[in-house]
Amino acid sequence: KTFFTPISGGAPPSATKRPTKITVVGVGNVGMAIAQTILTQDLADELALIDAKEDKLRGEMLDLQHAAAFLPRTKIHASLDYAITANSDLCIVTAGARQNPGESRLNLLQRNVALFRHIVPPLAKYSPDCIIMVVSNPVDVLTYVAWKLSGFPANRVIGSGTNLDSSRFRFLIADHLDVNAQDVQAYIVGEHGDSSVALWSSISVGGVPVLSFLKRQQIAYEKETLENIHKEVVQSAYEVIRLKGYTSWAIGYSVASLARTLLRDQRRIHPVSVLAKGFYDIEGGEVFLSLPAQLGRNGVLGVANVHLNDEEAQQLRNSAKTILEKFVPPTW
Ligand code: NAI
Ligand code: 2OP
Repeated sequence: KTFFTPISGGAPPSATKRPTKITVVGVGNVGMAIAQTILTQDLADELALIDAKEDKLRGEMLDLQHAAAFLPRTKIHASLDYAITANSDLCIVTAGARQNPGESRLNLLQRNVALFRHIVPPLAKYSPDCIIMVVSNPVDVLTYVAWKLSGFPANRVIGSGTNLDSSRFRFLIADHLDVNAQDVQAYIVGEHGDSSVALWSSISVGGVPVLSFLKRQQIAYEKETLENIHKEVVQSAYEVIRLKGYTSWAIGYSVASLARTLLRDQRRIHPVSVLAKGFYDIEGGEVFLSLPAQLGRNGVLGVANVHLNDEEAQQLRNSAKTILEKFVPPTW
């Protein structure tokens, strides 16, 4: 392309760095919320979109491309053919069935495992060095499935996990204490779903441990109030699905925050679904569930040693059991 003429004696214009490329598989509610957040936050030079529905895919691609004049420059491609995903740094999988009102995430398992057999191998083939981020539900089991199907090392296969639940938790605590959610440090760990675990013992606001602060101020620390906040977190998705049919905006921001940490090597700690074998005495085989993990350009760099009291540690082991009981691994 010769729109510009090089200055006298100057080298022709060339890219100064390898472009950052993200693939999003599935351009439904979740995939598109993620795609548009990636674009507005300027996280990729190239965005590849894949879906099984050709018209929907092209329509979504054009609609995003038509916003070019208002966004940072990103090359957007879309195709049914995984060749367009080649050399991605990050592949985000959102394809698959979603819950009907009242249906649990684990109920989606068989339908979505079947789809992953057609999705993960071509992603791994075209981008053998990428990080795979699984979002489709049940996310913990499907992250395990993606790990097996890709043949990647476990540090490069991550589930979006309870990064979203933890944001919901921080929102509710912030609302309760009338502070900013960004000042609340609080983790939900375990299954992204009904058996998730709230780590009350380590919550802090602006560096102040919340439970001991409440006790010191002799503010009645009502276990029931805290349990209700956690129940509300667990019910959040069911309520949104009952009201609008699906969840999308919060998961869009959640995954964009993970993409930023990974691709810009921010080394922040996020509760995400990782291979949990060997942590917190979790037994019973290879299970993926959310733990506070440090993330960077190489994927999962390590798991933070957040202190869990006995009750929390037991709940985490029960959550691992719930995931393992629902899933009989097929032969790969
Ligand atoms: P949706 O029905 O709007 O979109 C799903 C998309 O996947 C559709 O465009 C469909 O054509 C596509 N698809 C189906 N089979 C495919 C295949 N073989 N290859 C490529 N694309 C294929 O569903 P929505 O609302 O976007 O949800 C997607 C998934 O994300 C669900 O499993 C849902 O439960 C999950 N989810 C996970 C969250 C999390 O925190 N982990 C949060 C919200 C949703
Ligand atoms: C969510 O928590 C449904 O997993 C989805 O929004």
